[in-house]
Amino acid sequence: MDFDVAYEGKAKQLILLEDDRDHYVQRFKDDATAFNGEKFAQFEGKGALNNAISSFLFEKLEEAGVLTHYIERRTETDMLIRKLEIVPLEVVVRNHVAGSLGRRTGLKEGSKVDPPIVETYYKKDELGDPILADVHIKMLDIVDDEELDQIKQAALRVNDVLQPIFEKAGIRLVDFKLEFGVDSAGAIILGDEISPDTSRLWDIESGDSLDKDVFRYDKGELIEAYEEVAERLGVEV
Ligand code: C5P
Repeated sequence: MDFDVAYEGKAKQLILLEDDRDHYVQRFKDDATAFNGEKFAQFEGKGALNNAISSFLFEKLEEAGVLTHYIERRTETDMLIRKLEIVPLEVVVRNHVAGSLGRRTGLKEGSKVDPPIVETYYKKDELGDPILADVHIKMLDIVDDEELDQIKQAALRVNDVLQPIFEKAGIRLVDFKLEFGVDSAGAIILGDEISPDTSRLWDIESGDSLDKDVFRYDKGELIEAYEEVAERLGVEV
């Protein structure tokens, strides 16, 4: 084996670098899971597509002044990232009603969420990633009030940068999930990935899903949908 895996997630690996404690290689896998691991499949080429799309979006965010862990795209499936201490929150931004928001509120699928909202979920598989109110985040001592505020502001800023990029590509950015971390200086930094695995992307004209819902709900060919996203964004895979 030519590398050491520091962390193995459902769709990614973090790989340790020799003589470099400040960075990881983030490798995107072809594995797809849904419903907390109940549904599983592999799609050849998914890792490369997500790496290319994520790299492109992180570059756009960096250009807009958002601090991210992204350094560079290394190979088809690998990106070089800064090492962060991950905050165990899944931060979801929503522009339209879909998924669990519809189930929780009864609001109509697709209706506009105006202004956009930010939700926080506990990143804990064994609990099924439950939604957390600010009081729970405080009680669990996950982050302090100021850090939580910074995370929410950064999530909305990411939305402001990404929405027009997708709109120009004829894609509605319905919702997406972010993860943040803290660097060695204590700054809040955007981590993880932003890809069709972690967002809902709807064709503005047809309303068709171009994201992981294709796999979750058997709506068509996942690779075709992800390729469509890459092509429309002008991303070379
Ligand atoms: O399921 P829900 O509607 O709460 O998902 C909101 C958004 O967050 C979707 O884009 C979904 O793909 C993403 N998500 C994720 N990882 C999770 C939960 C949700 O990427 N563990």
